Amino acid sequence: MKKYTCLLLFFICSSAMATQMINFPENFQWCVSTSSHQIEGNNIDSDWWEYEHRPGTIKNNDKSNDGGDHWNRLEQDTQLLVDLGIKSYRFSLEWAKIEPREGEWNQAALDHYKQEILLLKKNKIQPFITLHHFSLPLWLANKGGWSSPSAPASFQKYVTKVYESLGDLGVEYWVTFNEPTWNLISGYVTGEFPPGKKDLKLLEAPLREVALAHGLAYKTLHELAGDRPIQVGLVQNLNVLVPLRSWNPLDHYAKSILDKIYNWSILQTIKDGHFKVSFPTAFSSDIPMPQLKDTLDFLGINYYNRQFIKFLFTPPFIASLAVAPEENISEMGWEIYPKGIYTVVKQARKLFPQTPVFITESGIADKSDSKRSDFIKEHLFHIHQLLTEGIPVLGYCYWTLVDNFEWAHGFEPKFGLYELDLKTLKRIPRPSAKVYADIIKNNGFGFDPTKTRFK
Ligand code: FCB
Repeated sequence: MKKYTCLLLFFICSSAMATQMINFPENFQWCVSTSSHQIEGNNIDSDWWEYEHRPGTIKNNDKSNDGGDHWNRLEQDTQLLVDLGIKSYRFSLEWAKIEPREGEWNQAALDHYKQEILLLKKNKIQPFITLHHFSLPLWLANKGGWSSPSAPASFQKYVTKVYESLGDLGVEYWVTFNEPTWNLISGYVTGEFPPGKKDLKLLEAPLREVALAHGLAYKTLHELAGDRPIQVGLVQNLNVLVPLRSWNPLDHYAKSILDKIYNWSILQTIKDGHFKVSFPTAFSSDIPMPQLKDTLDFLGINYYNRQFIKFLFTPPFIASLAVAPEENISEMGWEIYPKGIYTVVKQARKLFPQTPVFITESGIADKSDSKRSDFIKEHLFHIHQLLTEGIPVLGYCYWTLVDNFEWAHGFEPKFGLYELDLKTLKRIPRPSAKVYADIIKNNGFGFDPTKTRFK
């Protein structure tokens, strides 16, 4: 009997010993992210609205319609943030609602966002604003969207109007663009986003104009802010890319091409003050942009997955694959690879060694909610590792609060901590919402790194 008690104690003690407390700094910004087009509903003057109404563009022919009706549920959704204990809420403003026709400003929309910001502040939640999250006003899309040389000036006017209307409300964090390279590659190369084009050559112009627009917006915001302490950054999606066959130089080549353009083209332009971007057989740009230097007060990183890259002998020449056991693949078909968050932050630090980092998105489509809690903890474990190395990671935003309209995938993927009942628009907490709320409440969690689920 005595022998068994000893054995039992041994197992209990050794497993308790392997569990570490992962504690975060006092001021760590626990956050969730959303974007306007995906949750507000009725973005009728946008390019996305027009695109969704083209047959065959969106999975199951879904349309964003009312979205989650966030526009009319500010109180209710702010309460969800309060229930989670969120410190920072990252959301985007909808340009198409603010400027539905060129030069015509919609005061009601600006007042609406003012109300949203005040509500957040009243609840001690820091508003974290993205100025551009994929969608554009239709009038600008009709003029060529981001490939139009007039787009940066139009963006600057919009940014000016926004800051003049909302700048005195004390918002500290401003993002110019969300995932510019992914947005433009999807719109001009793979054709999954508006304008729905599939031609590599078309990528050059919008990449260049977006880089210029970022520089203009950065300068404009700081000029308007004067002495107000604001932080202006850009959000880049960084993927871990690996050549599929390590022995194959063509896979290495394909990986390096994709890496340069997808992960780093915009950030490298900001770093160097020089737009030197090329894609073999398609385009090669070499344009000095000295005004872009030092236009990043913080770097927002969205991290979702690792991809294995294969060279193809026929167009589009590059294939990216998720190679992992079933358990490690999400409902988006993306590999769950928590360690990658550490890898991409370290890579970004090489480019911007002094710039603080904010994890602006990390999330999983997981309808049954069977993986989300472990997903969050394992990513946080690696973020904690970065913090222990002295890397200033200011916060972590889970993507997303409530199930939403997931662009070309429609309403099928379920990323939310809260489930959205599409008929009643009721928000129903998933078990992982409680797990995230507990992590926030304790500013950490117990974790056994020897027992990770996603290898
Ligand atoms: C990111 C987007 C965000 C959402 C997530 C799943 O690339 O920024 O809007 O679609 O993916």
